[in-house]
Amino acid sequence: MTQELTSPSPAPRAPAPHRGPRWWRDAVIYQVYVRSFADSDGDGIGDLRGARGKLPYLKALGVDAVWLTPFYASPQADGGYDVADYRAVDPLFGGLDDARDLIDAAHEANLRVIVDIVPNHTSDRHPWFQDPELARQRYVFRPGKGEHGELPPNDWESVFGGPAWTRTDRGDWYLHLFAPEQPDLDWNNSDVHAEFEGIMRFWLDLGVDGFRVDVAHGMVKAPGLPDIGHGEQAKLIGTQVLPFFDQDGVHAIHRSWRRLLDGYGDAHGKAVVGVAEAWAPSAERLALYVRPDELHQAFNFHYLNTGWDAASLRAVIDASLEAMRPVGAPATWVLSNHDVVRHRTRLGGSLDRARAAALLMLALPGSAYVYQGEELGLPEVTDLPDEVRQDPSFFRANGQDGFRDGCRVPLPWSGTAPPYGFGDAGTWLPQPADWHRLTVEAQTGDPHSTLELYRTALDLRRRLPGLGDGEMSWQPAPEGLLAFRRPGVLCTVNTLARAAELPLPGRPLLSSAPVAVDGASAVVPGDSCTWWAI
Ligand code: NOJ
Repeated sequence: MTQELTSPSPAPRAPAPHRGPRWWRDAVIYQVYVRSFADSDGDGIGDLRGARGKLPYLKALGVDAVWLTPFYASPQADGGYDVADYRAVDPLFGGLDDARDLIDAAHEANLRVIVDIVPNHTSDRHPWFQDPELARQRYVFRPGKGEHGELPPNDWESVFGGPAWTRTDRGDWYLHLFAPEQPDLDWNNSDVHAEFEGIMRFWLDLGVDGFRVDVAHGMVKAPGLPDIGHGEQAKLIGTQVLPFFDQDGVHAIHRSWRRLLDGYGDAHGKAVVGVAEAWAPSAERLALYVRPDELHQAFNFHYLNTGWDAASLRAVIDASLEAMRPVGAPATWVLSNHDVVRHRTRLGGSLDRARAAALLMLALPGSAYVYQGEELGLPEVTDLPDEVRQDPSFFRANGQDGFRDGCRVPLPWSGTAPPYGFGDAGTWLPQPADWHRLTVEAQTGDPHSTLELYRTALDLRRRLPGLGDGEMSWQPAPEGLLAFRRPGVLCTVNTLARAAELPLPGRPLLSSAPVAVDGASAVVPGDSCTWWAI
């Protein structure tokens, strides 16, 4: 008899093993890009109250924690990663009371809250930068080269394109590894250290459970700020140590923050985590950021950048796990975020692949990050008109690709036309006309929907003690396929476009596409992932 499976068999009702003091080791952390999540006041921009109203959705989805992207006072030159006041909420997103309410309400729902901290640079509107005397002490200013100082101090390029230096009216130059509105702080200055410790304590006192550290690899620059001698430096990021990225000196900062986080956590009976957004050239160098006395987790961009190919996936999974083993940190897995093309589009435009990739990620040992909207199978929006774009890299990059507005289009919640329940009015970026099929409302209760696939996967992940933190072991699999065991669960992945037949691995628990079981064999469709009970 052939049995087809699209929806899971009933989950075993064991008590959820979740989530003790080391909750972060296997947490599924949902990234809320605040301005595109939910709008409570009808200005077309998502806000903290809007996010609070969607906590029941996140609870029902089954995630463990929420990471909120910056909502601090900011001119928004880079989507809020240009902070003018780290202790204030930008009126676009609400006020401090809204932040407190959101954190409290999340905790009532047993969801942890991680917020961004942006220590590499501030906004050029930050009071320190506005004061010429303070600015010279606390940011990276240098005289220019050339007869009249008319040339930048070195050849460094901004990540967003163009030189990493801007000349002031006074004739000197300041460093900005990102937009000119984001001057780099000088971490040789002890005031900078003290200020960020104060900022962390401020948000910890408001109740947050951790920080996602922006550009955690960037704060320390090589002495003398040497030239790189190579154009197109953006292409070198993450492939080698640069004089401005992944310098060994950054680790002393992370060690001091770990002491702060542990000290605060111990005093308040909770585990507070630091997550590194670090671009390191290898899994081994990334592991340095999560040594036992540094941060707790680091984003695994090597995994994110791996194509849909069994051998490459196996290699990056092995490299990630091996690199983390000696330092004892959990591996992390991520497919999408607010800086990259959504994985459905990046992996070839196929929803089948996107669903399979999600099930694979959620079966791997460690912690996983879900970017808002991937649970709906949202594609990248690739046809935004130039006049609505806001990503600073669009304006500085001269036709290079990689703009980030297409993954930041506001979420579709309900209804048949924009703004699809995002708020009462419009949306700060236009939503596609065909997203009515992808709304939360349209997908809820449909056993074939991507949303229900994520819900079921997250529910199983909570209930099956073998998923989450722990070991995995590879099993033999034909070329183009992967098979690995977790305690009690076997996961098969078919990265080929065509179906493949396998000896029956076990009882099908959940599959991204219908599998057929016939006697002692199973047929798994192309571009699919299946969890089997063993
Ligand atoms: C990484 C953030 O994710 C990105 O959005 C931002 O532009 C840069 N850091 C600069 O802060």
